[in-house]
Amino acid sequence: MNDAENTPDSASQPLEERVNNRSQRPSSEAFKAFMASNWAPSPQVTPARDAVADHAARRRRAISEQFKGERLVVPAGPLKVRSNDCDYRFRPHSGFAHLTGLGLDHEPDAVLIFEPVEEGTGDDGGNHRATLYFRPLAGRDTEQFYADSRSGEFWIGARPTLAEFEARLGLPTSHIDELEMAITKNVGAPEIGGISIRLVRKVDENIDALVDTARYNTAKDPDNLDLGVLDGLDEKLSEALSELRLIKDEWEVEQMRIAVAATAEGFTEVVKALPRALTHFRGERVVEGAFFARAREEGNELGYDTIAASGNNATVLHWTRNTGKINAGELLLLDAGVEADSLYTADITRTLPANGTFSEVQRRVYEAVLDAADAGFAAAQIGTKFRDIHTAATTVLAERLAEWGLLPVPVAEAVSEEGQQHRRWMPHGTSHHLGLDVHDCAQAKRELYLDGVLAEGMVFTIEPGLYFKNEDLAIPEEYRGIGVRIEDDILMTADGPVNLSAALPRTADDVEAWMAGIYEELGRS
Ligand code: GLY
Ligand code: MN
Ligand code: MN
Repeated sequence: MNDAENTPDSASQPLEERVNNRSQRPSSEAFKAFMASNWAPSPQVTPARDAVADHAARRRRAISEQFKGERLVVPAGPLKVRSNDCDYRFRPHSGFAHLTGLGLDHEPDAVLIFEPVEEGTGDDGGNHRATLYFRPLAGRDTEQFYADSRSGEFWIGARPTLAEFEARLGLPTSHIDELEMAITKNVGAPEIGGISIRLVRKVDENIDALVDTARYNTAKDPDNLDLGVLDGLDEKLSEALSELRLIKDEWEVEQMRIAVAATAEGFTEVVKALPRALTHFRGERVVEGAFFARAREEGNELGYDTIAASGNNATVLHWTRNTGKINAGELLLLDAGVEADSLYTADITRTLPANGTFSEVQRRVYEAVLDAADAGFAAAQIGTKFRDIHTAATTVLAERLAEWGLLPVPVAEAVSEEGQQHRRWMPHGTSHHLGLDVHDCAQAKRELYLDGVLAEGMVFTIEPGLYFKNEDLAIPEEYRGIGVRIEDDILMTADGPVNLSAALPRTADDVEAWMAGIYEELGRS
């Protein structure tokens, strides 16, 4: 029997309640009292302050400087439904993670609020006091404890208390029940003593609605509220949060090293799994699974869906379906990154000969891509423009394509703005910033990103490739079905670029030797 059968007229039961029809939920007072009793107390330990806390405080201080007198609202985002009553694993918005220092699955529905105070009297002499609002662990005397499958301790384990996060983050915390008031109180035009809000939009639609309503209710002329102007205010906050992440602090660089090291281990696991992958009808999934195991064992997750692309699939830039067979003699393009517990991710690509040895034409293409990557690396110097990396790498590719007789125009014409014919075989950018998001700092202004100047502390990829499709009639047959990308994660230092992912072999000879060494080792064990 279930709840539906208990209902005299189940057809009138609201749809949203029917999700509970598959189980009985006792609701007698006797049951509630029994559930609330006889639990050993939870250990009362005050955790140590997280190493990231001081860095996060500095980041908040920098944002406070830019938005004096305004309330800033930075949501973590809600749980997202994957199917029916099953959610995706929670992952907070990167701007929220950066400003709080929180990683892992912390914390659905949380919101960080910067409350404006008199200039210079806020946190660390800034202009705001920040508070983290979230749903803390409920007591065992509450129904949430055993009856709430999304946040109850009985269902998902103990979650943080207010005191725990406060101690770990060095940040005042408040119950989520106080959030609505904290966002909406005294909202209004500054000229009449109100506080204006800036919100990181499109992270939590409940918070968007709350802010919109507060703005509407307090506007002088609500019917003529200029939503474009308000969106512009909000976008400036997102832009500032993105730009704040262009330069990584030392803690972030350490997280990048952790993510890269775990990713390198994942690539080794893939090489070990390749012999089995070659026998499987969906060998690409064997590769994907081998890497994923490492991502979950060593880190939080994948930073992005793994591209495990063999043969012609490697010419599909974002091939994440990974349903293909891997045939001996093909190249396997593996683009994968472990996201550390701190949520910083690596983004590395290696292109491996499935049977351990490059053919002559595969090697020719591979070495052109490697030369392009090296040219990009040489161009990446303090003070040069971010876009110069792309120009350096793609010029090498254009030269090689010309040498092979594939380019229909001279190199000079191809690399001019009017030409770009070489982009038929390398249509993506060569570099992007990397960090909490795989494509980090995406809301930064163009003059600080593509037209920006490389500076110490930047972390970005260099990832040229060549992609020759089976159905490309503009190239000789020997090239068709070959896709090669080599992607490394670069840290800009005062002494020049450092390749964080250099532990993974890059030259064709080193790749072959590395794979052979792994198989030799496996053979011995
Ligand atoms: N893995 C996505 C990229 O390389 O940008
Ligand atoms: Mn990338
Ligand atoms: Mn990548």
